[in-house]
Amino acid sequence: MQKVTGLAELEAWRVRYLGRKSKLINILRSLSTLPVDERRDVGARANQVKNQLEQSLAQKKEELDRSVNLSLQKESIDISLPGQPYHLGRLHPTTRATREICDIFISMGFQIAEGPEVEWEYYNFEALNMPAEHPARDGFATLWVDYVTESGTRPMLMRTHTSPVQIRVMEHAKPPIRVIAPGRVYRYEATDATHEWMFSQVEGLAVDKNITLADLKGTLFEFARRLFGKDRKCRFRCDYFPFVEPGVEIAIDCFMCGGKGCRLCGNSGWIEILGAGMVHPEVLRGCGIDPEVYSGFAFGMGVERIPILKYGIDDIRLFYGNDLRFLRQF
Ligand code: PHE
Repeated sequence: MQKVTGLAELEAWRVRYLGRKSKLINILRSLSTLPVDERRDVGARANQVKNQLEQSLAQKKEELDRSVNLSLQKESIDISLPGQPYHLGRLHPTTRATREICDIFISMGFQIAEGPEVEWEYYNFEALNMPAEHPARDGFATLWVDYVTESGTRPMLMRTHTSPVQIRVMEHAKPPIRVIAPGRVYRYEATDATHEWMFSQVEGLAVDKNITLADLKGTLFEFARRLFGKDRKCRFRCDYFPFVEPGVEIAIDCFMCGGKGCRLCGNSGWIEILGAGMVHPEVLRGCGIDPEVYSGFAFGMGVERIPILKYGIDDIRLFYGNDLRFLRQF
């Protein structure tokens, strides 16, 4: 009996010692064939043995039941306990807005281009028609970086806009060119609710024969309506950027108040969304593209501005403050 460790073994044990074909039961069954004087003795002994065997059987049965119950208890799962919450990652609002913007232009046949965030002065300024001392440089508070080489240090900068990617593309590609360049840009500025020292832009550039201001207008009007809704109106007004001529500033009618004037649009009814213009002939020439043959348009927009407008975010610092309570809302 000591070797018995499971219910099946116990049953085998019972069949063997107490079953209908066991020796003991045979003895009990054949008592009547014994002589009378032996019958009582043998009968008493056999019943004693039977009782003992039945007792150990019952004991073992109880023991096994208890251990089965114990292990069941140990393995049981309390399904009334709340589960472990697990958090799904999500895309940063800037990433989402960048993709939304890029998807629209990709569907119009634009390709993605990239450029470095640590940039040469030449690409960020000079090639964009802003030589040293040009007053327009004042509009781009610049973070300078020393590039240390064996022969000394050379000044580099954190690009202040994505426009240098225009130059890098035009230096290598032959028209027709249609690219957009998403990326981070930097400004050496104190931060507040509307200023951040790092933010994102998407640049656009199209160069080909016979590209006109009408192409710029049609493309960006279509873009604005895809991003902000098909009932949007667009306003094109003159603006100045040294690398385009003419330069324009594009605004949409306020989608909050429909143009009547509210807090979002500063009571003007219009919201500026991007700067653009026809690529300056000097910029084309500097990249080896003949402005007598080719023309182009370019535009640049701030990415964070899109979710700021769409979701009414009142502080740009929330984007890179890494507060999960903010980020989890997107
Ligand atoms: N680079 C300009 C800025 O950061 C935007 C711009 C891009 C304007 C292309 C015109 C053409 O303000």
